[in-house]
Amino acid sequence: MAQRESFGSSFGALVALAGSAVGLGNLWRFPYLVGTNGGAAFIIIYLAFVLLLALPIMYSEFIIGRRSQSNVFGAYKVLAPKTKWCNIGFVYVLGSLAIISFYCVVGGWTIAYLWKAVTFRFSMADTEVLGSMFSQTVTSSTQPLAFMLIFLAATGLIVLAGIKDGIERYTKVMMPLLFVIVVIVAIRSVTLPGSGAGLEFLFRPDFSKVTAGTIIDALGQAFFSLSIGCGTIMTYGSYVAKKESLVGISIETAITDTLFAIIAGLAIMPAVFAFGISPAEGPGLVFVTLPYIFAQIPFGAFLAILFFFMLFIAAITSSISQLEVIVSYLKEEFSMSRKVAILLSMAVIVTFGILCSLSQGVLADVKIFGFNFFDLFDKTSANILLPVGGFFAVIFVGWKMKREDVKDELTSSGIRKYSPLFFNFIYYSIKYLAPIVVAVILVSGLI
Ligand code: TRP
Repeated sequence: MAQRESFGSSFGALVALAGSAVGLGNLWRFPYLVGTNGGAAFIIIYLAFVLLLALPIMYSEFIIGRRSQSNVFGAYKVLAPKTKWCNIGFVYVLGSLAIISFYCVVGGWTIAYLWKAVTFRFSMADTEVLGSMFSQTVTSSTQPLAFMLIFLAATGLIVLAGIKDGIERYTKVMMPLLFVIVVIVAIRSVTLPGSGAGLEFLFRPDFSKVTAGTIIDALGQAFFSLSIGCGTIMTYGSYVAKKESLVGISIETAITDTLFAIIAGLAIMPAVFAFGISPAEGPGLVFVTLPYIFAQIPFGAFLAILFFFMLFIAAITSSISQLEVIVSYLKEEFSMSRKVAILLSMAVIVTFGILCSLSQGVLADVKIFGFNFFDLFDKTSANILLPVGGFFAVIFVGWKMKREDVKDELTSSGIRKYSPLFFNFIYYSIKYLAPIVVAVILVSGLI
């Protein structure tokens, strides 16, 4: 059998994982969730979930992927042969499919807005004009489809080039660039006169605003933002060399992801407050509020181009990780070539993507379980498939795998410096803490 693909360097592995985690979840979803959930208190709860819940799930996916050296379906076949565990692989493939199907629509919007920025369409500082520009953009039956196809084509081409020459090569350039751009926009925002109220909103918690909904939103955001629960970390983990520290990469990914979310908050909230806009604007926050801000500040037109370019980059380094889950599954389980696997996945994704995109306009009234297609794919994946997928990953590692094997994987980098206490903390959070908390969310989510 041919040698399996893998990342070429430690830095490459880290940026690929961080590139998957950092995406529209950080730059579009996190700021508006912070805005609608009252600010700093939401951030603190979110951070607690990342530490206590997301990390154990991330380790578990990583352990399963790297130990088995296989795709999401094959992984369980390797580690638990002749059992039904491999069927969980389907949950991951379905979850990835559901996510990429609406993610590519928003990815298309980022290109549409990049185009508007380049052609200086934000010169009008009027929230009503910009609001109708947004609704016109997303409800049209042609334009967003074209941009969605461009986004998917770019995603497909990077994945086609493979792990080292595609995913790793592009994320290595794009991630540092993304960091520089988001920092520039954040500095501009923080130095605006009147930005202090935004900083206070971000950093002074008011726990009296916390509701059950805040907690559920924070949990869902932790799953979505760290790309856990549908096999992304498992798949990328299978390309990471044994000499790398799995715990180290996971923690670095979580820190990078959180850092991006906070800097994105800094790029957006101070400006929102400086211009007296409501932070609770919702999903339009990035697409309506920011162009309004860019129209009024010096160098705004330039910053708008930078910002939407950054949004596009962040989205594509995530969408390639979603596609790779499906492609590696088809490739390894059905002996397809990378190309055929991509074309086949794309046929399905484009179909679903068209439905999601049109559900913003002409198909708005087509409802399944009370949701339009976009919300159906968004809600079922984030609120159901990701928690289910994460739950089974921790249960598998905590209860089905041998404790010795888990330890071996956790310490494979050779740095056996983890104290027994640290190992036990990780192990018991995988075995008890994470599954119990996830089960509680799932049940409360269903109620
Ligand atoms: N984490 C990415 C973001 O924040 C999105 C993403 C990529 C994702 N792969 C995933 C979400 C897998 C859930 C599952 O935008």
